[in-house]
Amino acid sequence: MRYERRSIDEEDNCPVPPRYIPLVSFAVGADAYDRFMGRYSAPLAPELADFALIAAGQRVLDVGCGPGALTAELVRRLGPDAVAAVDPSESFVAAARQRQPGVNVQRAAAERLPFGDRAFDAALAQLVVHFMTDPVAGLGEMARVTRAHGVVAACVWDHAGGQGPLAVFWKAARELDPDTADESELAGAREGHLAQLFREAGLRDVEEGVLSVGVEHPSFEEWWEPFTLGVGPAGAHVAGLDTKRQAQLRERCRELLPAAPFVLTARAWAARGLV
Ligand SMILES: C[S@@+](CC[C@H](N)C(=O)[O-])C[C@H]1O[C@@H](n2cnc3c(N)ncnc32)[C@H](O)[C@@H]1O
Repeated sequence: MRYERRSIDEEDNCPVPPRYIPLVSFAVGADAYDRFMGRYSAPLAPELADFALIAAGQRVLDVGCGPGALTAELVRRLGPDAVAAVDPSESFVAAARQRQPGVNVQRAAAERLPFGDRAFDAALAQLVVHFMTDPVAGLGEMARVTRAHGVVAACVWDHAGGQGPLAVFWKAARELDPDTADESELAGAREGHLAQLFREAGLRDVEEGVLSVGVEHPSFEEWWEPFTLGVGPAGAHVAGLDTKRQAQLRERCRELLPAAPFVLTARAWAARGLV
């Protein structure tokens, strides 16, 4: 699930320079993403848009758009002509273009955005900062393409506090193998860190917030099956286990979760700063 990094000399004319290609693979179909993470990111999108003070009349960039959960919310508020989006994943760019006709969707990484200075009123990144190879550079680029006094905002699941949507999965995985690398060490996934990265990127009047979503799962199988689709670090972890260990992990998750149907409440750290 890892990409080989090439030298910086090879970056010419590359839509996503090799040094900014994510180490975590999102080279998966949009439907797999929707079933795995989109079920949480879709209800999170209006929370982030509210937190970022997005309102009619603005022109807004969605960075790391994936198949377009936040893009869809921005289009609802602003119309397609006022929204642009980027993602390094080819399959997600294709899906976002198909789902949101009229939106300018480009294949690019946050660390090198294909837009001029001050092109937007706001730039948002939902569940992306922790996957950037250089989060401060990515946030700095988001600030560069946002007008003076415009808003840069982002959110990352509270993986470190065990309040993200994958908390039960990672707890079970660590119980079975204490050396498991979960997502708790990633950028922005612990209290205060996202705001710190915003300040390091030069944003001012930085405020931190907490966003929360509740998603109902009708059955354990509906919750578990998307983990087998290879999406993100959790999907890569399952794919790296043999059948017996996958079954052990699945059954430990079943024990840890409430009886179905259950509502999973997930919390994300958010930060907002001005250019
Ligand atoms: C968890 S998904 C979030 C997608 C979407 N924003 C959502 O809320 O559903 C993370 C996304 O970040 C993208 N990504 C990873 N590294 C990135 C980078 N350096 N710049 C921009 N996007 C990146 C991935 O391709 C993936 O689409």
